[in-house]
Amino acid sequence: MLISHHLLLCATPTKAVCCDESLGKASWLKLKKLIKDLDLENPRRAEGIVLRSKVDCLRICADGPILLIWPDGIWYGGVTPERIEMIIREHILRRTPVEEWILKRTPLF
Ligand code: FES
Repeated sequence: MLISHHLLLCATPTKAVCCDESLGKASWLKLKKLIKDLDLENPRRAEGIVLRSKVDCLRICADGPILLIWPDGIWYGGVTPERIEMIIREHILRRTPVEEWILKRTPLF
C-alpha cells in the first residue's frame, strides 16, 4: 500500500508541557475528522493514504501542539483545529507547506 504522508500530533501528552490539553484534544479530533471526510485513508487514493498518529511527546515541548509531517520532515507549532484544516488543505492536498507555522525542517531526503 502506498503511503503519501504520516502525520504525528502531540495532542494530549502525559505531561502537558507544550499545550493546553483541551486545545490538543480539539486539534486531534479535527485531524481525524478531516482525514476521514476528505477520504485520505482510501487505499485507492492515487497519491497514497495519509496516516495519522497521536503521540505522547515529540521532544519539542514548547509552542504546541506540535504536528510533524513525514516524509517531508516539517514540524508545525501552535497547531489549532483551524490551522490543522489549513495544513491539510495546503500541505497535504496542494503540497505547499504553510511556511508561517513551520518551526523546523528535518527532511528525510
Ligand atoms: S509535549 Fe508536545 S512535544 Fe513534548
